[in-house]
Order: sequence, then C-alpha cells, then structure tokens
Amino acid sequence: MTKQFHDNALSGETLDQLFNEARSYNGWLDKDVSDDRIRAIYDLLKMAPTSANMQPARIVWVKSPEAKAKLAELVMEANQPKVLGAPVTAIVGYDIDFHEELPWLFPHTDAKSWFEGDEAGREQGAFRNSSLQGAYLMLAARALGLDCGPMSGFDNAAVDKAFFADAPRHRSNFICSIGYGDPASIFERSPRPDFDKFNRIA
Ligand SMILES: Cc1cc2nc3c(=O)[nH]c(=O)nc-3n(C[C@H](O)[C@H](O)[C@H](O)COP(=O)(O)O)c2cc1C
Repeated sequence: MTKQFHDNALSGETLDQLFNEARSYNGWLDKDVSDDRIRAIYDLLKMAPTSANMQPARIVWVKSPEAKAKLAELVMEANQPKVLGAPVTAIVGYDIDFHEELPWLFPHTDAKSWFEGDEAGREQGAFRNSSLQGAYLMLAARALGLDCGPMSGFDNAAVDKAFFADAPRHRSNFICSIGYGDPASIFERSPRPDFDKFNRIA
C-alpha cells in the first residue's frame, strides 16, 4: 500500500489498482472487451503527453478470431496462447511520418519543419513517444478495470507486413493483450528495487 499524501493524490485503493496490485497476465477469463471500452482506452491515453503532441502511436486492436490467428502465427510460441486466449491484443505501432499531422496536432508553430529531412530523428521520436503511449495504454486499461499482458516476443517485420501493409511507414513497437486476467496464470511477483538501489536525488 502506497503512503497516503493529503493533497490531490489518488486513494491508496486506486493506486493499488493501477500499480501495487496490478499484474502482467498470461491467461485470460472468457469475458469480452467491448469496442466501446477499447475506444475509452484510446480516449484516455491520447490525453497524456507526447513530444510536440506528436501522437505517433498507430494502434491495431486485434479482436476477431481471424486477426488473432494471424497475429498468433507471428509471435513466439510461448506467447501464442497469450494472444489467442485474450479478448483483444493491441499492436502498438508508430508512424515514422507522424510529422505530416503536426500542422493540426501542434498548431502553435511550424513543428512539421523541425522533422522534415530527419528520418533518424523521426524514428527516435516516434519510438520514444509510442513507447510512452503504450505505457499510457496499460494504465488507462487498468484505470478502466481491465488487465494487461505486454509482449515484445514477436517478429516485428512480419507483424508490420501483416497488419500495416496499407501503411508502409508504420512500424510495430510492442503488443499488449487486454482483458480480465486469470489469477491462475501469473507467477509470484518478481522483486522490485528499493528507491536507493537505482535512484539518487541530486
Ligand atoms: C515491453 C514488454 C515486453 C514484454 N514481453 C513479454 C513477452 O514477450 N512475453 C511474456 O510472457 N511477457 C512479456 N513481458 C511481461 C514482463 O515479463 C512483465 O511485465 C514483468 O515481469 C512484470 O510482471 P508483473 O507486472 O506481473 O509484476 C513484457 C513486458 C513488457 C513491458
């Protein structure tokens, strides 16, 4: 249980739901996640910050049996049941040409010009900020009462070909199954470091 601070902090119960008690699930209860709930996850995650509001995440929500079967073929064997058994698996990708959208996403200034001709910089920015958006996705899903199972054990190039064929400038980052986690499917919690182990206040 997180120490309580008496300002605008969320309740200990809420922090437990988002962090302390939340786990990465490997197996899923047979319970649907509605399209409305999926849209609600996006409507929360898009509000969290990205550099110059670039919003580089491009997400495919794999929900139909056909799409799940297609994705499961492209993940590590150990991850296959984690995709096939989940109500939905989000492919969190990013658009290398996100800057084309900046005129309306960041209208205060000509941010598009900062990225023109700098593909390496765009790749770095898109990967960094889509990773953030993937983290926001997990916290949004948890906030909405769902569980997550993130995975990077898959063939990115094959997933890009299968799911971003009509958008050759989109690349997959990681995937995340979402649903109602089966408590029987998780291991004991792995250790977490104390503050002093990896932090210092300078
Ligand atoms: C980016 C990322 C990639 C991961 N890849 C895999 C994976 O391919 N297969 C898997 O079973 N778990 C994967 N995990 C799950 C982690 O092992 C898990 O989140 C971590 O051990 C913490 O577990 P806990 O949340 O239950 O404490 C991944 C997690 C993240 C964040």
